[in-house]
Parts: sequence; C-alpha cells; structure tokens
Amino acid sequence: MRRIMVAGNWKMHGSTDMVETLLGGVMAGLGDDMPVDVAVFPPAPYLSQVQALAAGSRVEWGGQTLNPNEQGAFTGEVSGAMLADFGCRYVLVGHSERRTLFGETDTDVAARFEAAGRAGLTPVLCVGETQAQREAGETEAVVAAQIDAVLERCGIAAMADALVAYEPVWAIGTGLTASPEQAQAVHAFIRDKLSALDATIGGQIRILYGGSVKSSNAADLFARDDIDGALVGGASLTAEDFLGICRGAS
Ligand code: PGA
Repeated sequence: MRRIMVAGNWKMHGSTDMVETLLGGVMAGLGDDMPVDVAVFPPAPYLSQVQALAAGSRVEWGGQTLNPNEQGAFTGEVSGAMLADFGCRYVLVGHSERRTLFGETDTDVAARFEAAGRAGLTPVLCVGETQAQREAGETEAVVAAQIDAVLERCGIAAMADALVAYEPVWAIGTGLTASPEQAQAVHAFIRDKLSALDATIGGQIRILYGGSVKSSNAADLFARDDIDGALVGGASLTAEDFLGICRGAS
C-alpha cells in the first residue's frame, strides 16, 4: 500500500515571518490521523528555521536542488551533505525550472540524483513534457528519456529509495492541470517502465503529480491507481490551501 505524500515546493518564496506562519499553520492543521506524509521544500536559507520548527513533528523537509559535487569552489551552490546536515530527508532533482531556467540536462539531473543518494537523501526525480512535446505526441518518449538518464547512471536499484514527480511543464504555475485521466496515463507508463526492470520497486515507488494542484482537484487525482500524491507549488504557500490538498488524501 503506497501512502499518499503531499510535498510543498516553496520555490523562491519566503521570509522568516512567512516560514513561521506557514509552517506553524500546516503543523497545527494536520490531524494526527490524516493518512498522508507531508514534506516542505523551503529555499536553502530557511532550512535551519524549518528544522527548528518541524523537528519531531509529522512534517519532513528537503532541498530544492543540490550540486552534484561534495564540496569545493562552486559559489552559490549547496551540497547534499549540507542538506543532510540540516535534517533534510528529501531533495528535488530535475525540477522543470532547473531544467529550463538553469540549463540542467538529463545528464546533470542524473548526477544530482546520484549525489543525493550518496548524501543519504531521498531524491524526488521530476519529469515532464512541454506543451509542444505533448501536442507532438512525444510525452512518453520525453519522460522515458528523462528517467533513462537516471537509470543508466544509477541503476534501477537506486529507485528503491526515490520518488518520481510527474509534472507536465504546461501545467506548472499556469492554472492548467492535467486531467486525472491524463495524469494517470503517464503515471501508469512510468510505473510499468520501472516494473519491467524490477517489479517490486515499480510496485512500491511513489509517483507524485505536480502542476496546479489545488484543494479542488487533489482528491480526484489521488483517487487514481498510480497517483500517490502531489508536488505543490503555488498552493503550498498558504497553510489553508496546502491543508486542503492534504485532506484530499482522506
Ligand atoms: P504549481 O507548481 O503547483 O504552482 O503549478 C508545481 C511545481 O512546480 O512543483
């Protein structure tokens, strides 16, 4: 049984006041018996604050990206070991904004995925097609290539401690959500692809959906067989919206 996970990607939003209000609100509103795992991904400067507030609570946290190197002259970058040092359990790898705005290639993403494992972090591998790729019928080929780059470098065994987030680029921050049917079809494709290599890993891996998830569409998405939760951007920035999505797991 795969437990639903709701993950909040705060992107480059926040302040110490906002972290306190948002995280405080989320922690206060999460009932003990809500059947959902919850994680937040704050900007790196707020990890220490999140750790102090959330340690011992149901809320886990992670980094939004990591540099594949362990340490060194990489100004502005953050290593996996640093994220682990601040109690991160997870790290996003290959978010579409990293791919499109910061030029991360499939190969770069695979190196980051590997570095996450070395640091003891659980990578959340983000994949997804653009609007043009979907219209050209290339969705499965694009997603397969993004996953294959990681499999070639790290092997299927590395997927045993990882999550996948399917985030169609055209649905991120646009208000357009993939329909539950569209999302389910890609999630099933991803699971089948991984299951063909290792049935246990394919059956157990959690595949989150991301792209304009809100409280009004979360339950419908979570009801699909292969949708195991959500990676939430905009709606993760207020406690009420985020909690509404968490309630969709019930
Ligand atoms: P969104 O972002 O929920 O604002 O569409 C999702 C994401 O980028 O992870």
